[in-house]
Amino acid sequence: MTLLKRSSKIAEAEALVIYAGKKSSLDGFGLTHEQQKAAADALRHDRKMFFSGHPGKLKIVMLKDEKPELYKQHEAARRAGAQLLQFLNETKSSDVCIADADGEDDILLALTEGLLLANYQFLNYKVNAKKKEKDSLQNVSLMSSSLKEKDLEKLEIIIRATCIARDLVNEPVSTLNAVELAKQFQKLGKDAGFKVEVLNKSKIQSLKMGGLLAVNSGSDIPPTFTIMEYKPAKAKNKKPVVLVGKGVVYDTGGYNLKPGPSMETMKCDMAGAAAVGAAMWAIAKAKLPVHVIALVPATDNRINGSGYVAGDILKMYNGLTVEVLNTDAEGRLILADALSYGERFKPELVMEFSTLTGAAMAAIGHYGIVCMGTADEQVKNKLKESGNNVYERLAEFPFWDEYDELIKSDIAEIKNIGGPYGGAITAGKFLARFVSSPYIHFDIAGPAFLSAKDSYRGKGGTGVGVRLMFDFFSNY
Ligand code: BES
Ligand code: ZN
Ligand code: ZN
Repeated sequence: MTLLKRSSKIAEAEALVIYAGKKSSLDGFGLTHEQQKAAADALRHDRKMFFSGHPGKLKIVMLKDEKPELYKQHEAARRAGAQLLQFLNETKSSDVCIADADGEDDILLALTEGLLLANYQFLNYKVNAKKKEKDSLQNVSLMSSSLKEKDLEKLEIIIRATCIARDLVNEPVSTLNAVELAKQFQKLGKDAGFKVEVLNKSKIQSLKMGGLLAVNSGSDIPPTFTIMEYKPAKAKNKKPVVLVGKGVVYDTGGYNLKPGPSMETMKCDMAGAAAVGAAMWAIAKAKLPVHVIALVPATDNRINGSGYVAGDILKMYNGLTVEVLNTDAEGRLILADALSYGERFKPELVMEFSTLTGAAMAAIGHYGIVCMGTADEQVKNKLKESGNNVYERLAEFPFWDEYDELIKSDIAEIKNIGGPYGGAITAGKFLARFVSSPYIHFDIAGPAFLSAKDSYRGKGGTGVGVRLMFDFFSNY
């Protein structure tokens, strides 16, 4: 874990970084006259990064991206942070002191966020990891006299929570099955101070969660259903917000088996579960004044002699019947049970995160989150605002009644797939049948797992959703 602290004067650091605009003054940072002149010159010529000195005493000046909207400036700063990390690695720098030339603390924090999110590595199985493979950064100090300790703490929580979610996603099913995932949630609850209850298979059977049990029927490992609750004394909301996360710890597709290439990344199919668990950890750590409950139905979707098949008819937790026409549309089956279970809490809002459809990924790629639902405009606008703030942008899809027609079944109430078009929406429509409270569905299939690094989001699990939820609840 990188150490983060505040300092009011230039620390004795290996590397000093100044984030500056073209017109910013570079006085007062201990640069020599020549360095100042050369740096100002470089910035004027649109060079993104200027450095002088040698490893051990580096002076780095980075150019601010002057964007009209504040949230875009913040994102530019995060991206600059990721670029900075790469440079620090190349120069084997371990200690860095960062300042914003114009004294803008929010920009300084955003740059630091990008730096620290980029600094994530999943090395659990690199038993022979060489020093040169490991990120070199150890200590970060932020030079600002106005920066609040509270903001620094908050940033640290956000970074740690995002990395918790990334770790959970990157862990393969051989070490993180449904039972183990529930144990990880129990650990998070203990650490941050929220309640965790895990329902085992026999409890799930007695509750008649037909969706979760059907998807689990092809597995040798039992399912779990985790209930997390954070209820501070001074909660602002009378009725809780319920979070639900898809916890398919591995999705082979079941008897509608996925082809090899599509299966390769399917350990990521619990990214929704990871996001809500990590968000609970962050909310509790930061002691946000909100009453939140998170539900995670978890299982793998596999094949053995008793796996469910297309044609099966299921009776779900709320009594609705579902005709299975594709065992690879399993996420909506386990989520349906969790969503209707969530109704018992009489939530004022339900937010559900899932790597639900290839269709969502096909529609917008990894650049944002597809969302849709029945919550009112005010809530949606707040969520979109948070999406921009943390740059996990939301693209709202239509939720028109006509789509309901596409999931009508001839022999049961609904079927688990729609037609060839609007696949992300028919999936959302399926889920909405199991919730009567105001509801938003977030399909994170696109951004949850990257096959190539994208700035401060590395290859693999991204932890998408965690920062979005934290920002939303911070302003709740
Ligand atoms: N887990 C997948 C969706 C997915 C795809 C997540 C790509 C991450 C990346 C989901 O369970 C699935 O297989 N959905 C099917 C639904 C179809 C059978 C209606 C899909 O999208 O192809
Ligand atoms: Zn599937
Ligand atoms: Zn899936």
